[in-house]
Amino acid sequence: MSGRVLLVGASGQVGAQMLEYFHQTRGIAYAVPTSREAANRPGWLPLDLASIDATSAKQLLQPYEFEAIYCVAGMTDVERCQSEPEQAEGANARGPAVLAGYARSLAIPFVYFSTEYVFDGDPARPGPYPENAPTHALSVYGRSKLDGEVAVTKAHPAALVVRTTVVYGPDERGKNYVYSLMRNLAEGRRMRVPADQVSTPTYNRDLVRATVGLVELGATGVVHLCGPELLSRIDFARQVAQFLGLDDSLLDPVPTSALGQKAPRPLDAGLATDLLRQQYPHLQMRTVAESLRDCEEVLHAFRRNLPLAQSSMAVR
Ligand SMILES: NC(=O)c1ccc[n+]([C@@H]2O[C@H](COP(=O)([O-])OP(=O)(O)OC[C@H]3O[C@@H](n4cnc5c(N)ncnc54)[C@H](OP(=O)(O)O)[C@@H]3O)[C@@H](O)[C@H]2O)c1
Repeated sequence: MSGRVLLVGASGQVGAQMLEYFHQTRGIAYAVPTSREAANRPGWLPLDLASIDATSAKQLLQPYEFEAIYCVAGMTDVERCQSEPEQAEGANARGPAVLAGYARSLAIPFVYFSTEYVFDGDPARPGPYPENAPTHALSVYGRSKLDGEVAVTKAHPAALVVRTTVVYGPDERGKNYVYSLMRNLAEGRRMRVPADQVSTPTYNRDLVRATVGLVELGATGVVHLCGPELLSRIDFARQVAQFLGLDDSLLDPVPTSALGQKAPRPLDAGLATDLLRQQYPHLQMRTVAESLRDCEEVLHAFRRNLPLAQSSMAVR
């Protein structure tokens, strides 16, 4: 055992949280992070899932003798995937399968991150979906992730596939949904929020802790990791706005169809976590209220630095 893991996609929302978690719990050298732009990041490995093959993977990774590979990377822009299906397939399916095959050759764990978008959220067959519910992806993104699940599992039958959804929480890049909400509402801008998309929002710190916990317990196959509450996007947005003392009357509930998006979204979706609760009761996921309380200092610090358009808004 080398005592090190490969963290593919460490610059993303979930990857950055995972890197921080490893730094705090296992020490600075435990995780070797990757990025396509590793040249700007000393100590990071350059890795592009769209172009990696078995030979280049071996060349790049062999010197490290990793004990696990976490693939937290992916082409996550759902609209871009819709217009660039070939790139989506490379980054979300073919590349992860190459790394899964490499992990299998070393008999080490491999983790792939997938999504609720493998389901259709059809009101006739609504979520929250258990792990074994029939899949039916509506978008290129969802299909590429479903293809990734299949390809990864074929390359490494003992791989762990973590499905998650609507991830929020601390984000040093300030890019996830909670940050857009803070920027818009603090600056007095109205925000259109789908009222007909129902899901199970997921706290990124819990997602990371539970994923690492599952790997350490030797979990394999598909496991759903998400929050315990089924919420519409508008109810989620209102809850966050109210918690942060922002003006939730700036949130305009609209049907998803009014947003003019190219990629169809699952509406009545969400992921069920009965398997996690029954088999891994110590790896539980917190509610939105509990999660916001856990990271309120980070969120308030970000909010305090925003140019305020409305002097009436109190900072808690
Ligand atoms: N966030 C959510 O709500 C959500 C919901 C469901 C599932 N997921 C899944 O969870 C995982 C993490 O999501 P996230 O929110 O952290 O995504 P993110 O913030 O968009 O980050 C994705 C990371 O993937 C890397 N990446 C993109 N294309 C790549 C490529 N061709 N080769 C190598 N790396 C590439 C990027 O790193 P560089 O640019 O530095 O290379 C980026 O930092 C993804 O697999 C996503 O599909 C996320």
